[in-house]
Amino acid sequence: MITIAKRLQHIEEYYFSRKLGEIAQLNAAGYDIINLGIGSPDMAPPQDAVEVLCAAANNKKGHGYQSYKGTPALRKAFSEWYAKYYTVALDPDTEVLPLMGSKEGISYISNTYVNEGDEVLVPNPGYPAYAAATRIAGGVVRYYDLTEEKDWLPDLEALQDQDLSKVKLMWVNYPHMPTGAKGTAQAMDGLVNFAERNNILLCHDNPYSFILNDTPLSIFSERGISEYVLELNSLSKSHNMAGWRVGMVAGHRSHINNILIAKSNVDSGMFLGTQMAAVEALKQPREWYDTLNNVYKERRDIVWQMMDELNCTFNKEQVGLFVWGKVSDEVKDVAQLVDDILYKAGVFITPGFIFGSNGDRYIRISLCSETERLSAALERIKEFKNININQA
Ligand SMILES: Cc1ncc(COP(=O)(O)O)c(C=O)c1O
Repeated sequence: MITIAKRLQHIEEYYFSRKLGEIAQLNAAGYDIINLGIGSPDMAPPQDAVEVLCAAANNKKGHGYQSYKGTPALRKAFSEWYAKYYTVALDPDTEVLPLMGSKEGISYISNTYVNEGDEVLVPNPGYPAYAAATRIAGGVVRYYDLTEEKDWLPDLEALQDQDLSKVKLMWVNYPHMPTGAKGTAQAMDGLVNFAERNNILLCHDNPYSFILNDTPLSIFSERGISEYVLELNSLSKSHNMAGWRVGMVAGHRSHINNILIAKSNVDSGMFLGTQMAAVEALKQPREWYDTLNNVYKERRDIVWQMMDELNCTFNKEQVGLFVWGKVSDEVKDVAQLVDDILYKAGVFITPGFIFGSNGDRYIRISLCSETERLSAALERIKEFKNININQA
């Protein structure tokens, strides 16, 4: 028998990949499941970007392998985007590396820096890819707590009191997924200080800064580039281009060169048309984000009503593509609640426990569905609640 490599033995199949299979089966059996689980933007990318992509696809000369470092035009566009929206100066030749989404950046950064046995600080709750990439690289996941009481920000004083000698890297992500905590410039500054003081590479994953958020922040906004800091960014959410796979990592030139070693041995560059289209996307004026956010605001109102129907408490200041709510004490089992909503109401929402134990008492609802679909989900949830009350 051919056995799976040890590095994958303690890594489960991604929760969504399993659950989407279940949803597909239900749909095949004739149910019309409303999937409010995943944060895959459903609106169209900027029209200029689509047109450039189509033209590029028709250009016979644009189909060869591309540079591992992305085109100079794309690196320049990222650098100008950072200057305009984050007031951060990035040298496009040395401090920016285009990626196929930020998720692959998580994996490349882990493979570039994490040695067997190195500890990596990972948020609980947080995006599951940080822990998975750490384990695949042979590192040891050391979760740090994020709690509602502390606005989902790390307690750096508590961390500082611990033995950090084996910690090589720390993942942070503001606006935070799944909680929607916005983060502050002051918190970012504290994190950079913490990393520098403890010789830790701080990796800030920043794909949500434009969603329902008027003041996009970069980890570099306060103090510029540091040898202790990296930032990932992405067009997946900000430009509705999740399937296109365009992202980037920014940081000190030495890190960009090191990450390139990992990357250039895995992929062979990104399709030229995608890169040219991404340049167009990055040129969008502020109105692009405003228009997008007006739609998300409308949707969020409906999701807030869903949260109310489900007796969840939630913070209306949260940002990003989801609404994160705490279930009431009456709910004994969140997994059961989520399955009941799936099987009895035909609506899929995400249980908070998949993001870590501090998410145990929470659920997350995505804003990536049309208003009509969300309204239908709201009606189904009202109905579901009535049935449950009548059965009680
Ligand atoms: C926190 C976080 N980081 C990264 C990603 C991946 O984004 P990308 O599409 O750029 O790979 C996601 C996607 O859901 C995310 O929630």
